[in-house]
Amino acid sequence: MPSHLLSLADLSYEELIDILDIASDLKEKRARGKTSTGLKNKSLAMIFEKSSTRTRVSFEVAMIELGGHAIYLNYKDIQLGRGESVADTARVMARYVHAIMARVYKHETLTELSKYSTVPVINGLSDLEHPCQILADLLTVREYKGKLKGLNFSWIGDGNNVCNSAILACALTGMKITVACPEGYEPNSEILNKARDIGGTVSVIRDPVKAAKNADIFYTDVWVSMGDEEEYEQRLRDFKPYQINSKLLEQAKHDVMVLHCLPAHRGEEITAEVVDGPNSAVFDQAENRLHAQKALLLKLLS
Ligand code: CP
Ligand code: NVA
Repeated sequence: MPSHLLSLADLSYEELIDILDIASDLKEKRARGKTSTGLKNKSLAMIFEKSSTRTRVSFEVAMIELGGHAIYLNYKDIQLGRGESVADTARVMARYVHAIMARVYKHETLTELSKYSTVPVINGLSDLEHPCQILADLLTVREYKGKLKGLNFSWIGDGNNVCNSAILACALTGMKITVACPEGYEPNSEILNKARDIGGTVSVIRDPVKAAKNADIFYTDVWVSMGDEEEYEQRLRDFKPYQINSKLLEQAKHDVMVLHCLPAHRGEEITAEVVDGPNSAVFDQAENRLHAQKALLLKLLS
Protein backbone atom coordinates (compact mmCIF):
# COMPACT_ATOMS: atom_id res chain seq x y z
CA MET A 1 0.00 0.00 0.00
CA PRO A 2 1.15 3.59 -0.56
CA SER A 3 1.88 5.74 2.54
CA HIS A 4 -0.84 8.25 1.61
CA LEU A 5 -3.93 8.35 -0.61
CA LEU A 6 -3.93 11.70 -2.41
CA SER A 7 -4.82 10.40 -5.87
CA LEU A 8 -6.66 7.32 -7.05
CA ALA A 9 -3.55 6.57 -9.09
CA ASP A 10 -1.58 6.09 -5.85
CA LEU A 11 -3.17 2.62 -5.85
CA SER A 12 -2.20 -0.28 -8.06
CA TYR A 13 -4.94 -2.39 -9.65
CA GLU A 14 -4.30 -5.14 -7.08
CA GLU A 15 -4.52 -2.72 -4.13
CA LEU A 16 -7.72 -1.24 -5.51
CA ILE A 17 -9.39 -4.64 -5.91
CA ASP A 18 -8.20 -5.67 -2.45
CA ILE A 19 -9.90 -2.57 -0.96
CA LEU A 20 -13.13 -3.39 -2.81
CA ASP A 21 -13.03 -7.03 -1.65
CA ILE A 22 -12.47 -6.00 1.99
CA ALA A 23 -15.27 -3.41 1.67
CA SER A 24 -17.73 -6.03 0.32
CA ASP A 25 -16.83 -8.39 3.14
CA LEU A 26 -17.26 -5.69 5.83
CA LYS A 27 -20.58 -4.64 4.29
CA GLU A 28 -21.91 -8.18 4.32
CA LYS A 29 -20.75 -8.75 7.92
CA ARG A 30 -22.25 -5.44 9.10
CA ALA A 31 -25.61 -6.48 7.63
CA ARG A 32 -25.39 -9.57 9.85
CA GLY A 33 -24.53 -7.45 12.92
CA LYS A 34 -20.89 -8.53 12.96
CA THR A 35 -18.22 -5.94 13.72
CA SER A 36 -14.48 -5.71 13.24
CA THR A 37 -12.32 -3.89 15.76
CA GLY A 38 -9.26 -3.58 13.57
CA LEU A 39 -8.62 0.06 14.49
CA LYS A 40 -8.93 -0.19 18.28
CA ASN A 41 -7.28 2.81 19.98
CA LYS A 42 -6.51 4.46 16.62
CA SER A 43 -7.43 8.10 15.98
CA LEU A 44 -8.16 9.92 12.74
CA ALA A 45 -7.94 13.72 12.46
CA MET A 46 -10.40 15.11 9.90
CA ILE A 47 -9.55 18.63 8.69
CA PHE A 48 -12.26 20.40 6.69
CA GLU A 49 -11.83 23.61 4.71
CA LYS A 50 -15.20 23.00 3.00
CA SER A 51 -18.66 21.66 3.89
CA SER A 52 -19.41 17.95 3.97
CA THR A 53 -22.18 15.54 4.89
CA ARG A 54 -21.16 12.15 3.49
CA THR A 55 -17.38 12.36 3.87
CA ARG A 56 -17.52 13.65 7.41
CA VAL A 57 -20.16 11.25 8.70
CA SER A 58 -18.95 8.14 6.86
CA PHE A 59 -15.34 8.58 8.02
CA GLU A 60 -16.44 9.26 11.59
CA VAL A 61 -18.78 6.26 11.71
CA ALA A 62 -16.13 4.09 10.01
CA MET A 63 -13.61 4.89 12.75
CA ILE A 64 -16.17 4.32 15.54
CA GLU A 65 -17.35 1.01 14.12
CA LEU A 66 -13.77 -0.21 13.72
CA GLY A 67 -13.07 0.51 17.38
CA GLY A 68 -11.24 3.80 16.86
CA HIS A 69 -12.03 7.48 17.11
CA ALA A 70 -12.33 10.45 14.72
CA ILE A 71 -11.78 14.13 15.50
CA TYR A 72 -13.61 16.70 13.37
CA LEU A 73 -11.53 19.85 12.85
CA ASN A 74 -12.94 22.80 10.99
CA TYR A 75 -9.81 24.59 9.79
CA LYS A 76 -11.14 27.87 11.16
CA ASP A 77 -11.17 26.40 14.67
CA ILE A 78 -7.56 25.25 14.60
CA GLN A 79 -4.45 27.41 14.32
CA LEU A 80 -4.21 26.55 10.59
CA GLY A 81 -7.04 29.07 10.10
CA ARG A 82 -4.94 31.72 11.89
CA GLY A 83 -1.85 31.20 9.78
CA GLU A 84 0.01 28.26 11.34
CA SER A 85 1.78 26.53 8.49
CA VAL A 86 0.51 23.34 6.87
CA ALA A 87 3.94 21.79 7.55
CA ASP A 88 3.80 22.49 11.32
CA THR A 89 0.19 21.34 11.47
CA ALA A 90 1.20 18.03 9.86
CA ARG A 91 4.23 17.57 12.12
CA VAL A 92 2.16 18.17 15.27
CA MET A 93 -0.91 16.14 14.24
CA ALA A 94 1.28 13.15 13.39
CA ARG A 95 2.45 13.07 17.03
CA TYR A 96 -1.14 12.52 18.19
CA VAL A 97 -3.15 10.68 15.55
CA HIS A 98 -2.66 7.64 13.33
CA ALA A 99 -3.97 9.24 10.13
CA ILE A 100 -5.13 12.59 8.78
CA MET A 101 -8.02 13.01 6.35
CA ALA A 102 -8.35 16.48 4.83
CA ARG A 103 -10.82 18.24 2.54
CA VAL A 104 -9.07 21.24 1.03
CA TYR A 105 -9.41 23.90 -1.63
CA LYS A 106 -5.95 23.44 -3.16
CA HIS A 107 -4.55 20.00 -3.84
CA GLU A 108 -1.09 21.41 -2.96
CA THR A 109 -2.23 21.64 0.67
CA LEU A 110 -2.54 17.85 0.69
CA THR A 111 0.84 17.43 -0.95
CA GLU A 112 2.34 19.66 1.72
CA LEU A 113 0.56 17.80 4.54
CA SER A 114 1.82 14.47 3.21
CA LYS A 115 5.37 15.81 2.88
CA TYR A 116 5.57 16.61 6.61
CA SER A 117 3.24 13.99 8.08
CA THR A 118 4.71 10.71 9.34
CA VAL A 119 1.19 9.20 9.36
CA PRO A 120 -1.02 8.52 6.29
CA VAL A 121 -2.78 11.51 4.71
CA ILE A 122 -6.08 10.82 2.91
CA ASN A 123 -7.62 13.12 0.32
CA GLY A 124 -11.20 13.82 1.41
CA LEU A 125 -11.66 16.00 -1.72
CA SER A 126 -9.47 18.67 -3.28
CA ASP A 127 -9.82 20.82 -6.37
CA LEU A 128 -8.04 18.05 -8.30
CA GLU A 129 -9.45 14.72 -7.06
CA HIS A 130 -11.93 12.89 -4.86
CA PRO A 131 -10.47 9.37 -4.62
CA CYS A 132 -12.54 8.16 -1.62
CA GLN A 133 -15.72 8.91 -3.56
CA ILE A 134 -14.54 6.84 -6.49
CA LEU A 135 -13.65 3.84 -4.31
CA ALA A 136 -17.30 3.78 -3.19
CA ASP A 137 -18.45 4.24 -6.79
CA LEU A 138 -16.40 1.28 -8.02
CA LEU A 139 -17.84 -0.85 -5.24
CA THR A 140 -21.35 0.17 -6.32
CA VAL A 141 -20.70 -0.53 -10.00
CA ARG A 142 -19.29 -3.96 -9.16
CA GLU A 143 -22.36 -4.75 -7.04
CA TYR A 144 -24.78 -3.75 -9.80
CA LYS A 145 -22.91 -5.02 -12.85
CA GLY A 146 -20.91 -7.89 -11.38
CA LYS A 147 -17.73 -6.63 -13.05
CA LEU A 148 -15.79 -3.49 -13.95
CA LYS A 149 -13.67 -4.40 -16.98
CA GLY A 150 -15.23 -3.66 -20.34
CA LEU A 151 -18.03 -1.37 -19.14
CA ASN A 152 -18.79 1.94 -20.88
CA PHE A 153 -18.64 4.80 -18.38
CA SER A 154 -20.14 8.12 -19.52
CA TRP A 155 -19.42 11.29 -17.60
CA ILE A 156 -21.83 14.09 -18.50
CA GLY A 157 -20.99 17.61 -17.29
CA ASP A 158 -18.07 19.29 -15.56
CA GLY A 159 -14.59 17.76 -15.95
CA ASN A 160 -14.02 18.38 -12.24
CA ASN A 161 -12.32 16.72 -9.25
CA VAL A 162 -14.71 13.73 -9.17
CA CYS A 163 -14.38 13.33 -12.95
CA ASN A 164 -10.57 13.32 -12.68
CA SER A 165 -10.65 10.48 -10.16
CA ALA A 166 -13.23 8.61 -12.26
CA ILE A 167 -10.92 8.82 -15.30
CA LEU A 168 -8.06 7.28 -13.32
CA ALA A 169 -10.37 4.60 -11.90
CA CYS A 170 -11.56 3.64 -15.37
CA ALA A 171 -7.99 3.44 -16.63
CA LEU A 172 -6.96 1.20 -13.73
CA THR A 173 -9.94 -1.15 -14.00
CA GLY A 174 -10.39 -1.40 -17.78
CA MET A 175 -13.57 0.64 -18.18
CA LYS A 176 -13.87 2.86 -21.25
CA ILE A 177 -14.72 6.43 -20.25
CA THR A 178 -16.27 9.16 -22.38
CA VAL A 179 -16.48 12.65 -20.92
CA ALA A 180 -18.99 15.05 -22.52
CA CYS A 181 -18.34 18.60 -21.36
CA PRO A 182 -18.54 22.14 -22.73
CA GLU A 183 -15.39 23.81 -24.02
CA GLY A 184 -13.31 25.17 -21.16
CA TYR A 185 -14.53 22.55 -18.65
CA GLU A 186 -12.31 19.65 -19.68
CA PRO A 187 -10.73 17.29 -17.14
CA ASN A 188 -7.19 18.06 -15.93
CA SER A 189 -4.71 17.42 -18.76
CA GLU A 190 -2.09 15.75 -16.52
CA ILE A 191 -4.76 13.34 -15.27
CA LEU A 192 -5.72 12.57 -18.88
CA ASN A 193 -2.08 11.86 -19.73
CA LYS A 194 -1.64 9.70 -16.64
CA ALA A 195 -4.79 7.69 -17.47
CA ARG A 196 -3.60 7.11 -21.03
CA ASP A 197 -0.14 6.11 -19.76
CA ILE A 198 -1.78 3.48 -17.56
CA GLY A 199 -3.46 2.18 -20.72
CA GLY A 200 -6.88 3.76 -20.28
CA THR A 201 -9.28 4.57 -23.12
CA VAL A 202 -10.53 8.12 -22.51
CA SER A 203 -12.46 10.34 -24.93
CA VAL A 204 -13.35 13.95 -24.26
CA ILE A 205 -16.16 15.14 -26.51
CA ARG A 206 -18.79 17.89 -26.64
CA ASP A 207 -21.96 15.99 -27.51
CA PRO A 208 -23.78 14.47 -24.49
CA VAL A 209 -26.04 12.40 -26.78
CA LYS A 210 -23.01 10.78 -28.41
CA ALA A 211 -21.51 10.10 -24.97
CA ALA A 212 -24.77 8.52 -23.84
CA LYS A 213 -24.89 5.92 -26.63
CA ASN A 214 -24.26 2.41 -25.26
CA ALA A 215 -23.49 3.70 -21.78
CA ASP A 216 -23.53 1.17 -18.92
CA ILE A 217 -22.94 3.93 -16.40
CA PHE A 218 -23.99 7.57 -16.35
CA TYR A 219 -22.26 9.85 -13.89
CA THR A 220 -22.79 13.51 -13.23
CA ASP A 221 -21.93 15.99 -10.50
CA VAL A 222 -22.93 19.53 -9.64
CA TRP A 223 -22.25 22.22 -12.23
CA VAL A 224 -20.92 24.56 -9.55
CA SER A 225 -18.41 22.88 -7.24
CA MET A 226 -17.33 24.29 -3.90
CA GLY A 227 -14.95 27.12 -4.72
CA ASP A 228 -16.60 27.89 -8.10
CA GLU A 229 -19.52 29.86 -6.66
CA GLU A 230 -18.49 33.14 -8.33
CA GLU A 231 -19.05 31.51 -11.74
CA TYR A 232 -22.56 30.30 -10.81
CA GLU A 233 -24.58 32.06 -13.53
CA GLN A 234 -22.06 31.51 -16.33
CA ARG A 235 -21.80 27.82 -15.45
CA LEU A 236 -25.57 27.32 -15.41
CA ARG A 237 -25.70 28.74 -18.93
CA ASP A 238 -22.74 26.71 -20.21
CA PHE A 239 -23.92 23.40 -18.78
CA LYS A 240 -27.59 23.66 -19.76
CA PRO A 241 -27.33 21.07 -22.61
CA TYR A 242 -25.58 18.61 -20.26
CA GLN A 243 -28.48 17.66 -18.00
CA ILE A 244 -29.10 13.97 -17.34
CA ASN A 245 -32.82 13.58 -17.98
CA SER A 246 -35.11 10.82 -19.24
CA LYS A 247 -34.52 11.81 -22.86
CA LEU A 248 -30.77 11.29 -22.48
CA LEU A 249 -31.40 8.06 -20.58
CA GLU A 250 -33.17 6.67 -23.67
CA GLN A 251 -29.88 6.87 -25.58
CA ALA A 252 -28.06 4.55 -23.17
CA LYS A 253 -28.45 0.82 -22.51
CA HIS A 254 -31.81 0.00 -20.90
CA ASP A 255 -30.09 -1.04 -17.66
CA VAL A 256 -27.75 1.97 -17.47
CA MET A 257 -26.97 2.79 -13.86
CA VAL A 258 -27.03 6.42 -12.82
CA LEU A 259 -24.45 7.67 -10.37
CA HIS A 260 -24.04 11.03 -8.65
CA CYS A 261 -21.65 11.68 -5.79
CA LEU A 262 -24.26 13.97 -4.14
CA PRO A 263 -25.29 16.55 -3.11
CA ALA A 264 -27.57 16.71 -6.20
CA HIS A 265 -29.25 19.80 -7.60
CA ARG A 266 -32.49 18.45 -9.04
CA GLY A 267 -33.45 20.40 -12.14
CA GLU A 268 -29.84 21.43 -12.87
CA GLU A 269 -27.36 18.63 -13.68
CA ILE A 270 -29.99 15.90 -13.21
CA THR A 271 -33.78 15.76 -13.15
CA ALA A 272 -35.69 14.50 -10.10
CA GLU A 273 -37.24 11.86 -12.35
CA VAL A 274 -33.82 10.32 -13.05
CA VAL A 275 -32.08 10.73 -9.70
CA ASP A 276 -35.13 9.30 -7.90
CA GLY A 277 -35.95 6.81 -10.68
CA PRO A 278 -35.32 3.07 -11.17
CA ASN A 279 -31.90 3.44 -12.84
CA SER A 280 -30.47 5.48 -9.98
CA ALA A 281 -27.96 3.93 -7.59
CA VAL A 282 -27.10 7.13 -5.76
CA PHE A 283 -28.10 6.12 -2.24
CA ASP A 284 -26.34 2.75 -2.42
CA GLN A 285 -23.38 4.72 -3.72
CA ALA A 286 -23.57 7.09 -0.72
CA GLU A 287 -23.83 4.15 1.69
CA ASN A 288 -20.79 2.54 0.11
CA ARG A 289 -18.63 5.48 1.21
CA LEU A 290 -18.76 3.90 4.68
CA HIS A 291 -17.70 0.41 3.60
CA ALA A 292 -15.03 1.52 1.12
CA GLN A 293 -13.45 3.93 3.59
CA LYS A 294 -13.40 1.31 6.34
CA ALA A 295 -11.45 -0.93 3.97
CA LEU A 296 -9.11 1.92 3.04
CA LEU A 297 -8.49 2.84 6.70
CA LEU A 298 -7.76 -0.79 7.58
CA LYS A 299 -5.29 -1.08 4.70
CA LEU A 300 -3.53 2.22 5.47
CA LEU A 301 -3.44 1.86 9.27
CA SER A 302 -3.03 -1.82 10.01
N1 CP B 1 -19.96 13.14 -2.08
C1 CP B 1 -19.43 13.81 -1.05
O1 CP B 1 -18.22 13.88 -0.86
O2 CP B 1 -20.36 14.39 -0.22
P1 CP B 1 -20.07 15.43 0.93
O3 CP B 1 -19.64 16.72 0.28
O4 CP B 1 -21.37 15.56 1.64
O5 CP B 1 -18.97 14.89 1.82
N1 NVA C 1 -17.41 18.48 -7.35
C1 NVA C 1 -18.07 18.70 -6.08
C2 NVA C 1 -18.14 17.44 -5.31
C3 NVA C 1 -18.83 17.52 -3.97
C4 NVA C 1 -18.82 16.22 -3.23
C5 NVA C 1 -17.32 19.79 -5.32
O1 NVA C 1 -16.09 19.80 -5.37
O2 NVA C 1 -17.96 20.63 -4.70
